Amino acid sequence: MTLRSSARLRPAGARLAKNAPQEIAPQQSARTASSPAAKASTAQQLAALGIDTRPLHRPAARVIAIASGKGGVGKTFLSATLAQAMARNERHGRVLLVDLDLGLANVDVQLGLSPERDLGQVLAGRITAAEAVTTLAEAGFHVLAGRSGSGALAALAQAELSHLLDGLAALAPTYGRVVLDLGAGADRTVRRLAGAAGTVLVVTTDEPTALTDAYAFIKLSQADAPGADRRIIVNMAASLAEGQRTYATLARACARVLGAAPPLAGIGRRDAQVRDAIRAQRPLLSGHPNCDAGRDIEALAATLAAPMLPGELLA
Ligand SMILES: Nc1ncnc2c1ncn2[C@@H]1O[C@H](COP(=O)(O)OP(=O)(O)O)[C@@H](O)[C@H]1O
Ligand SMILES: [Mg+2]
Repeated sequence: MTLRSSARLRPAGARLAKNAPQEIAPQQSARTASSPAAKASTAQQLAALGIDTRPLHRPAARVIAIASGKGGVGKTFLSATLAQAMARNERHGRVLLVDLDLGLANVDVQLGLSPERDLGQVLAGRITAAEAVTTLAEAGFHVLAGRSGSGALAALAQAELSHLLDGLAALAPTYGRVVLDLGAGADRTVRRLAGAAGTVLVVTTDEPTALTDAYAFIKLSQADAPGADRRIIVNMAASLAEGQRTYATLARACARVLGAAPPLAGIGRRDAQVRDAIRAQRPLLSGHPNCDAGRDIEALAATLAAPMLPGELLA
């Protein structure tokens, strides 16, 4: 089935899809896209739109948020593995991973943590954000866990959100990198949390619903903060070449409708070891440092590495 035909079959339940342009479906089928002629024409089209499909090598901000429109695209896995990859390279300094999926927190579950303290207690005013931090010794980074399994933080008032962001802003300067694992969707809360990061990595897969929802997230967050540093990650790609094509599909839609496309941050290949690591509740790079997805995320971390600029904190 081509992406175009599956886009037609997309269920109405895709929350954000109504914001997406028709152009989100690729111009040609996956089969014809892999022919050399089709590749050349895609590259030409993208070059004409000013889009470079090579991953961007540019310093990222201290605070990096991982967002998506659709759930299940790998945000939590990428956040945890990116935090681990960064912690393995001292250029990044100390690394903190914050579970900001307020409705469906599960960083702790993916990493096999049973934290005694979490964001719920921070929001209740019982402890500070710094006091809620847990050390994940095996992976070499710190975790600020959400309230997994409760959904209790799903509907925060704006004042509570401000309290949370103030706590993070106080904590961030004590780390070299802070990775924020956001919830799916593009509601006001998610966008406000994304706005706390200097760099936002928007995750998609090649599924039409993931693409349309990523597009909608980009469109809405661009309206909030036109000049912000947003980049795209293609996850669960069948190959690096397929990942490039998926990026090109999204970039083309962004360029046509929004006038510009976020650059490609990186591609994470689909890899059976990811599932194994999550089942074992172990950070990927601890057990499988050289698997395809692990190498891809190490490469992503490398492209984001750079010395911090003074005062480059939470916005
Ligand atoms: N690169 C990948 N290769 C294979 N499976 C993946 C990959 N990334 C994510 N997954 C699978 O997708 C599932 C959902 O990932 P998760 O990080 O929980 O998504 P999200 O946080 O976006 O909802 C994981 O349980 C894992 O099995
Ligand atoms: Mg998640």
